[in-house]
Amino acid sequence: MLNRFSRREFAKLFGSAALAPTILPALSTERALAQNGTIAPPAQQLFPNGFLWGSATASYQVEGAVKADGRGVSIWDTFSHTPGKTNNGDTGDVADDHYHRYKEDIQLMKAMGLQTYRFSVAWSRIFPNGTGMPNPKGIDFYSRVVDELLANKIQPYCTLFHWDLPQALEDKGGWQSRETSEAFANYAGYVAQHLSDRVTHFMTLNEMRSFVDIGYRDGRHAPGLKLPPAKVNQVRHHAVLAHGLGVQAIRAHAKSGIKVGLAENAEACSPIIETPEHIEAARKAMREENAGYLTAVLEGKYTEQYLAHHGANAPKFTDADMKAIGSPIDFVGLNNYTTTWVRADADAKGYAIISAPESYPHMMSSWLRVGPQGLYWAPKFIAEIWGVKEIYITENGASSTDVLTTDGHVYDSDRIMYLRSYLTQLHRGVSEGVPVKGYFCWSFMDNFEWADGYAYRFGLHYVDFKTQKRTPKMSAHFYKEVIARNGLA
Ligand code: NOJ
Repeated sequence: MLNRFSRREFAKLFGSAALAPTILPALSTERALAQNGTIAPPAQQLFPNGFLWGSATASYQVEGAVKADGRGVSIWDTFSHTPGKTNNGDTGDVADDHYHRYKEDIQLMKAMGLQTYRFSVAWSRIFPNGTGMPNPKGIDFYSRVVDELLANKIQPYCTLFHWDLPQALEDKGGWQSRETSEAFANYAGYVAQHLSDRVTHFMTLNEMRSFVDIGYRDGRHAPGLKLPPAKVNQVRHHAVLAHGLGVQAIRAHAKSGIKVGLAENAEACSPIIETPEHIEAARKAMREENAGYLTAVLEGKYTEQYLAHHGANAPKFTDADMKAIGSPIDFVGLNNYTTTWVRADADAKGYAIISAPESYPHMMSSWLRVGPQGLYWAPKFIAEIWGVKEIYITENGASSTDVLTTDGHVYDSDRIMYLRSYLTQLHRGVSEGVPVKGYFCWSFMDNFEWADGYAYRFGLHYVDFKTQKRTPKMSAHFYKEVIARNGLA
């Protein structure tokens, strides 16, 4: 806009104050015009006071040090060392070496103003064989991380299971066996007992939908199984059961006052057009498409449609199981990257999922189709359908083909565009009263992106995996501004 006026014309129209160097660089042209009353001021996209801004990582993706201090083998060690399973044969053996560099990393968190950090505990550091005698050096590590975070005024949010199941448990059937659910509860209770004097928020399992469906049905993640439907449904059941038993164990062993939830990548259903019929269809889809996971947890039952759909392949369960699965939780953590577009349909379900055309825009990961509206609709539906009063966006972020330029910067404009559009939708919900209390950007730094290895970068910090040097990307500067302003204004 400025380019269309000469300086003199601009000053004549809007007053010379609009050109004062102290004002103009700090304001957008639109804001300068608004200050002069020429146009309405842009809405300030501020979040409520106390909204928590954070970032997240997970143990196997960042820690490395897989043999340090008595850690046991996990299914991701086995899987990533199996030829052909990961891109380029990458493993998490070293990853970001966060196990040894956590203090430096926490300084970087502090530098960007992070208020909270979500990390996960590696089960096989605590119980190298999944059960039995705990390894004191395991819990010590997380205890030191928690202390360091608190010393830097960053609130620790702790996830108990982010996919790195002890191999010893997999050898006994893994999530196909309900003993794994019981072992998880035992482990979760132990961690809560040791950290709950300093950690207030615990999440049981991360993305059940991903680790079950991709690991046990599609075989593309550890443990690499392609089980038939009845077995997959039973694995699913053991996952939600582990969550429920875990909630009970955490409450039984933690100091009072802590909060328990989970971090689930629920299908985030959005209406393709915001009309009452499509909105209603998306609301129905939100409940049914998540029937095996979030809906079961929040209702303590499987929907009739879910059981009818799976028929003879439906999971085997008892009333006591369902009661445990529905144990009350304090918050829902939602991992969100993409949206599921829904339209109204005349069939019995009342909705249809629209499959993405080939030309649909996505980030570097082909599954990561851009759909910021999910960050408006999914938390809104979760609050409306189930009356949830505390929601966190426990993950949201983008993979990019980041390049470290010769001037030492990473100009990840695509990630900034992505984050800005998702945060705009989140703001839309929050300003309407949707009870989202915090947001965790995935990820604090580039890391081992599971079967995609290190080529798929999600970090706010660029990591040179040869030297372990961290460089804040342009998106880290953007996010720092968001945190400092408490919004997108
Ligand atoms: C969700 C998972 O929780 C996390 O581990 C993964 O890296 C991100 N999605 C990106 O794929």
